[in-house]
Amino acid sequence: MAPQTKAVGKNVPDGGMRVTPTGMVRTAQWKIMPSSDTMVKGSTQELLLDAAALDRYEAFTADMHAILQKYEAAMRQMVVRFEILDRDLSIRRNRNPIHHIESRIKSPVSIYEKLLRYGKEPTIGNLEEYLMDVAGVRVICSYKNDVKNLMGLLRRQDDLEIVRIKNYIENPKPNGYRSLHVIVRIPVYFMDSKEMVPVEVQIRTIAMDYWASLEHDLKYKAVAETHGLDIAGELQECSKIIEGIEARMQVLANALDAGQAKHTKLAK
Ligand code: GTP
Ligand code: MG
Repeated sequence: MAPQTKAVGKNVPDGGMRVTPTGMVRTAQWKIMPSSDTMVKGSTQELLLDAAALDRYEAFTADMHAILQKYEAAMRQMVVRFEILDRDLSIRRNRNPIHHIESRIKSPVSIYEKLLRYGKEPTIGNLEEYLMDVAGVRVICSYKNDVKNLMGLLRRQDDLEIVRIKNYIENPKPNGYRSLHVIVRIPVYFMDSKEMVPVEVQIRTIAMDYWASLEHDLKYKAVAETHGLDIAGELQECSKIIEGIEARMQVLANALDAGQAKHTKLAK
C-alpha cells in the first residue's frame, strides 16, 4: 500500500507586506529555496510527508502561532525603526535613503523544512535556538552609500544586539549576489518579561534587489533548454554590469547632494 501522504503548506497564510510611502500592500511571500527534491514537492512551500512525519509536523505547528507572534512583534518594530530613520533623514538632511521596505514571517512549513535541513529535530526549542531568520526585514535603498549609512545608524541603536553581519557587497557571492545581511536581536516587551528576538535584516539597493529577484526566479525555472547560454556566467556578468551602473548613479547622487549643500549654505 502506498504510504499515506499529504502536501502541506499550500495554504500557508502570506505574511509578506510591502511598505511604501503611501501605505502597506501585501506581497507574495519570499520563496524558500528547496534544498532537496525528495523533501520538497513542486517549486516552493510544499512538503510531501508520510503519516508519521505528518503527525510530527502537526504537533510542531500546533504551538507555532503564539511563538510567531513574538517574531512578528520584533519584525514590526524593526520596520518602524527604519521608517523613523528615513523620516528623520528626510526632515533634517533632505535625503530619502529608503526606497521601500519588505518584511515577512517565515511560514511554518519553511521553518519545519529548514530545521530538518540543518539536521535538527523540529521543536520550538530548536526553532528559537537555530533559526535566525524567522522574522525578516528587507530594506531597499536607492544608492549604495545609503546601505552603508543605514548600517552605521543601526549600529548606534544601543538597545539592539548585532549578532552577525554578512557583507555580500564588499564580498559578493561567487554567483554575483550582493546584499548586506545583519542578524539583530531587538527587545520585545511582554506583560512580565523582556526578550531579545532575532530578526534577519537584508539591506540592499534597488539594483541589487533587481538582480537578486531575477536570479531567484531563474534558479527555480526548470531550464531544460538553455540555447547554449551559460546562465551562471551570464548572471555573474549581469551582476558586474549592474554594479558599474550603480557606481555611476552614485556619482550623480553625490554631485547633486554637493550642489544642494552649497545652495543651502549660500541661502543662509
Ligand atoms: P540560509 O538562510 O539557509 O540561506 O543560510 P544563511 O543564514 O547562511 O543565509 P545567508 O545570510 O547567506 O542568506 C540568507 C538569505 O539571503 C536567503 O534566504 C535569501 O533570501 C538571500 N540570499 C542569499 N544568497 C542568495 C543568492 O545567491 N541569491 C538570491 N537571490 N538570494 C540569496
Ligand atoms: Mg535565510
